Amino acid sequence: MNTDLPITMSGEEPHNRLFGNEWKYVREVLAEEFRTSSGATMMRRLESAFAEKFGSAYAISHVNGTATMHSILEAAGIGAGDEVIVPPLTMASTTHVVLQANATPIYADVDPETFLISPQSIRQRLTPKTRAIITVALYGLSPDMDPIMEIARRHNLLVIEDNAECFLGKYNGRLAGTLGHAASFSFQSSKHMTSGEGGMVVTDDAELAEKVRMVCTLGYRGVGAKTAKLKRTDIQDPDYARHASMGWNYRLPELCAAVALGQLENLDELVRRRTEAAGLLHAAVAGCPWLTPQKTPANCVHSWWTYVVALDTQRIAWRTFRDAFLANGGDGIYAAWKINYLEPMFQERKLLGRERFISPDHLACYRPGLCPVAEQVQPRLLQFKTNYWDIREAQRQAEILAATIRKLS
Ligand SMILES: Cc1ncc(COP(=O)(O)O)c(C=O)c1O
Repeated sequence: MNTDLPITMSGEEPHNRLFGNEWKYVREVLAEEFRTSSGATMMRRLESAFAEKFGSAYAISHVNGTATMHSILEAAGIGAGDEVIVPPLTMASTTHVVLQANATPIYADVDPETFLISPQSIRQRLTPKTRAIITVALYGLSPDMDPIMEIARRHNLLVIEDNAECFLGKYNGRLAGTLGHAASFSFQSSKHMTSGEGGMVVTDDAELAEKVRMVCTLGYRGVGAKTAKLKRTDIQDPDYARHASMGWNYRLPELCAAVALGQLENLDELVRRRTEAAGLLHAAVAGCPWLTPQKTPANCVHSWWTYVVALDTQRIAWRTFRDAFLANGGDGIYAAWKINYLEPMFQERKLLGRERFISPDHLACYRPGLCPVAEQVQPRLLQFKTNYWDIREAQRQAEILAATIRKLS
C-alpha cells in the first residue's frame, strides 16, 4: 500500500486552495480501496463536521447542490399541482429542481439594490397552491429572511435557503443557511469550499432529515438522518425489503467527501480570502458614478462568492466595459444568468414533459414583464471573481479595474 504520495500535484509548490488535510483524507479513502464495509465513512465525518460548523442538527451530503434541493422538495411531498416561489435572477438550478419535482415555479421579483428576492413580491405571488419558497443568497448575500419566515409561518410554507453561493454569510448575527427550514449548499468548483462537485442539506427538522436521506439514497429502508450505511445483517437477508419508497441515487462519493472535509476545516480562511479580494475590488469601484455595487444591508455579513456591480449601460455598454477590462489585463468578467423564465427551456417549452404539470395560465406568464426589476437589473450586472488564493493577484486585478474605470470615465 503506497501512502507515501506527494503532498501536492507538482510535489513542490504548496497548493493554494487545497492547503489543508485534503490530501491526507483522500489517501485515507484510497488506502481503504473502497471496501464496502468502509463505505460512507468519510461522508459521515464530513456530515457531522458540517452540522457542527453550522450549528445544525442534521447535515446530509449530496452529489451536488441541485440534487440537494430536489431531495428537500420530494421529502416535503411537494409535487404536481403545487407552486414554489423562486427568484428569477439565479443560477437555473433553483428553477430546475421545482420542475424536477413536477411542481410549478412561480417567480417573485428582486430588490433593485440587493438583487435578492423581495418579500413584498413574494406576498403578491401567494395563492392557495403555494407550498414553498426557495430563497437564494445571490453572490454570497442572504436575502431579508425575517419577513420571509413570517410569510411562511402565516401561510404554512416550507422555506429552503439556496446557499450554494453563501458560506458563513450572516443575517442579523445568524449564519445564512440556518434561517429557513432547510438549506442547500454546493461544493462545485467555483464555490467557497469545493470537492469539484458536491452538496449538502442542513436542517434542524428530524422528520425532514430522515426523509431527505431516504430520497437521496434510493429509498432504502434502514438509512437514517445520521446513517447512510445499510446494515450487513439486512443485506444478507433474502427477505430484506429494501426500498421503502422511491428515491434517487444522490450520494456524495467518498473521495469528494474527503476533499470537502479538508476544505471545511479551512472554511474561515477560504471565506476570509474572498472577503479580502472583494474589499480591494470595492475600493477600486468607490466613487465611480456609473458602477453601483450590490448593496450589503447593515444587518448582513456578505460572504463574497463574487463581487458584483450594476453598470449604467446607458453610459457604457456591457461589452465595452468587459473589452476594456480584458484589454487592460483583467480576468474574465461573468455576466448574470439570464432571467430563468426567459431561457429557451421556457420560451420554446423544452421542459421534458413537465409542461403538463403547469397550468396554461402559468405557462402564458413566463414572458417579459413578469419580474420587471430583475429583467432591468440582469443585463447590467458585472460579476468579478474573488477566488484569488494569492492576494497579490487580487491587488493586481483591483488596480486593473481602477485603471479601466479611469480610462472610461
Ligand atoms: C444559486 C445556485 N444554486 C444552485 C447551484 C447548483 O449547485 P451545483 O452546481 O452544485 O448543482 C448553484 C451553482 O452551481 C448556484 O449558484
